[in-house]
Amino acid sequence: MPVITSIEDLKQIYKRRAPRMFYDYTESGSYTEQTFRDNTEDYAKIRLRQRVAVDMTGRSTATEIIGQPATMPVALAPVGMTGMQMADGEIKAARAAEAFGVPYTLSTMSIASIEDVAEATTKPFWFQLYVMRDEEFVDATIERAKKAGCSALVLTLDLQILGQRHKDLKNGLSAPPKLTLPTMINLATKVGWGRQMLGTKRRFFGNIVGHAKGVGDTSSLSSWTAEQFDPKLDWSKIARIRDQWGGKLILKGILDGEDARIAADFGADAIVVSNHGGRQLDGALSSIRMLPEIVRAVGGKTEIHIDSGIRSGQDVLKALALGAHAAWIGRAYIYGLGAMGEAGVTKALEVIRKELDTTMALCGERNVHDLGPQNLLVPKGFF
Ligand code: FNR
Repeated sequence: MPVITSIEDLKQIYKRRAPRMFYDYTESGSYTEQTFRDNTEDYAKIRLRQRVAVDMTGRSTATEIIGQPATMPVALAPVGMTGMQMADGEIKAARAAEAFGVPYTLSTMSIASIEDVAEATTKPFWFQLYVMRDEEFVDATIERAKKAGCSALVLTLDLQILGQRHKDLKNGLSAPPKLTLPTMINLATKVGWGRQMLGTKRRFFGNIVGHAKGVGDTSSLSSWTAEQFDPKLDWSKIARIRDQWGGKLILKGILDGEDARIAADFGADAIVVSNHGGRQLDGALSSIRMLPEIVRAVGGKTEIHIDSGIRSGQDVLKALALGAHAAWIGRAYIYGLGAMGEAGVTKALEVIRKELDTTMALCGERNVHDLGPQNLLVPKGFF
């Protein structure tokens, strides 16, 4: 077993173990991938201010996220097809998050269903909804999430139309993956992946198959998804969903001060500053660069969370110091899952917490709530 000391280590193991088309699905952005690259590179441009001779005992990363206790200000972002990276991937990730004490978000486009994950866990998780044209499907899915005891609804607002990822098209990746000769060769090259996938007992795309009209099996799924994302999504539709849900609501995919102000006035419990990990509007700025504008616009009216590009505890610290209340990770835990299953997700969380804790100490801070601009050195003209 190799010694794993960083998220990058998990990524390298994942890359060796996963079929190329699933690795590429994770490790790509839309079009030229400019925004995808900026997300990580911009974190590296922000530097930290070292402080010494400050008592660093009694440090704590504990916090509350939308009123729910968490061992650190980190949440697992919704990631579609997680169960293709590893059999029962959503369940493994949810269990790791639960044991660690951070929120897990199940995607609409997951392999395991809301009910599968609810059955396999003991604490509430969050459910992410894509707004579809089929209102009956949307209503029924909200009811399923309520019945499963989900403790927040995450509404993703930045994917009413799909940003193209060249690699997925070239690899012939679709949802569900079609078994053509090239994809079969792609899958067959990873014997270990095939062996563990044989263990899955889940219904594929369990939130959709058997629940959406006309989707009785996976063969009818891809045409359904292609035409289903609702391009008419607007604030009135979001209000309808908010009222039907009635619980904690998180709006994900905000990247503009004005949108953030509207979302806060609208009564969201949190917003997620996000460019979908560089998978949607290529050419958008990194979410960390947009954060200060959004913090100013929101003026403390709601919790501000952030994702896209977070690969370390140092990155989490930078986001918190710039005013985020919590940082979400997507790829960082998928690397762990694809490398080592549930233990890999736990490892990713441990790596990030250790880095956050150590970095906090070296910055002369003892509590995540005390982080602020005093900890940062930002290049002139960066924001
Ligand atoms: C995503 N993301 C995403 N978001 C969402 O709301 N629903 C989804 O189904 C998915 N699916 C998905 C698949 C894959 C493979 C990735 C990498 C991402 C976006 C995700 O929630 C989050 O915004 C980004 O992953 C954050 O960026 P990092 O941490 O991956 O850089």
